[in-house]
Amino acid sequence: MKKTITKEFKFDSAHRLYNGKLNVEENKKIFGKCYNTHGHGFKLFVTVSGEEDNGMIINFTKLKKIVNENIINKLDHQFLNDILPGIITCENMIDMIFGILDVELTKQNITLEKLKLYETETSFATLRR
Ligand code: NI
Repeated sequence: MKKTITKEFKFDSAHRLYNGKLNVEENKKIFGKCYNTHGHGFKLFVTVSGEEDNGMIINFTKLKKIVNENIINKLDHQFLNDILPGIITCENMIDMIFGILDVELTKQNITLEKLKLYETETSFATLRR
């Protein structure tokens, strides 16, 4: 058996899918309507494991603080193309988020097991350790 806990976060951001190495027509062909600037109400599910202390893997309030300070406060109400490198897809965003949170949670002796990033109700990326 493996026990984890999960906390859900929300943030609203805008982006456009665009590859700077391609011209406008090529970009429109690959990314379609996502080439245009648009917004999402993102949902991020952070799943962690670790040794329990006082019946807790980590206090939910502490997990909330770590994720808010390192991810949510930086991405919420931003134009993501201005602050993140590369093509701002769910797949690339989840790689970046995992890298940052993995470092921060390891400092607390917590293992980041899984991230799920929803950009719509029905479209999401998952990254497991
Ligand atoms: Ni989008």
